[in-house]
Amino acid sequence: MQRPKLDWHSRDVISIRDFSRERIEDLLSQAQQIRPDSELLRGRVIASLFFEPSTRTQLSFATAMQRLGGQVIGFSGTEGSSLVKGESLQDTAKVVEKYADIIVIRHPLEGSARWVADTVSIPVINAGDGANQHPTQTLTDLFTIQKFQARLDDLKIGLVGDLKYGRTVHSLALSLTRFRQITLRLISPENLRMPPAITRELDGVVPYVETADLDLRELDVVYVTRIQKERFPDIEEYEKVKGAYVIDLNACEQLRRDAILLHPLPRVDEIAPEVDSLPQAKYFEQSENGVPVRMALLQLLLGA
Ligand code: CP
Repeated sequence: MQRPKLDWHSRDVISIRDFSRERIEDLLSQAQQIRPDSELLRGRVIASLFFEPSTRTQLSFATAMQRLGGQVIGFSGTEGSSLVKGESLQDTAKVVEKYADIIVIRHPLEGSARWVADTVSIPVINAGDGANQHPTQTLTDLFTIQKFQARLDDLKIGLVGDLKYGRTVHSLALSLTRFRQITLRLISPENLRMPPAITRELDGVVPYVETADLDLRELDVVYVTRIQKERFPDIEEYEKVKGAYVIDLNACEQLRRDAILLHPLPRVDEIAPEVDSLPQAKYFEQSENGVPVRMALLQLLLGA
């Protein structure tokens, strides 16, 4: 097994901005070589602190840790923890760092993972902070693109749906600035466009067009996202855009045969179930890939 090229020990994983191309490639290379059922992290403990719902991220981290021989403690939602009694996130983090070797946190507040990382001395992984970032989802997305398209340069990529509140597309778009000859088509309703804080970093680096047209022709990767109902301050605004895009068999006629269709999941109605059997549909493999990617990350951060 090839050794990692870079030093990973005890790093925090808060923002994809902290990942150079070399670091992304190092992680993906380790994930490709990962062996299930090792005992490299025997005796090590993850604290899995999920203040927002999760299926894939939480369970794939737990599976990753257990396949490496380690153990998982933590909670989903604040019920059952002393947060319901009014304990602060900072005090919770200070206590948890004495019980675990690494913290994985999902929290609705943007910047919360960075704040916890600044509070504790063990590594912290951001598993989603509000509408801001979801860096380990992006590493999984890049792993999946590389697996099926055999490259991370020279790609035409369409991001579809809620580009305003979708943290996965924020992290993914930023990560693409690390690669060459990428072009982006940002497909969203007018009021759900990619935030300027992200497009400013694309300017001059990754050519992009912003459009409301669901034009999927010529794309190598189509990355669809759910409209993030829970992040809308006004439910009436959500009602106006829900169901804005539905990728059904008809829409998929535009797809190139060698394109891949991704979605971080969960989906609501933005990809019709009958699309699942198309050869381009790779979103379930994408969520499966979260396990080797997170195994590699845990192994690297814990210095195994
Ligand atoms: N992709 C993703 O973050 O899914 P979960 O919300 O189920 O973790």
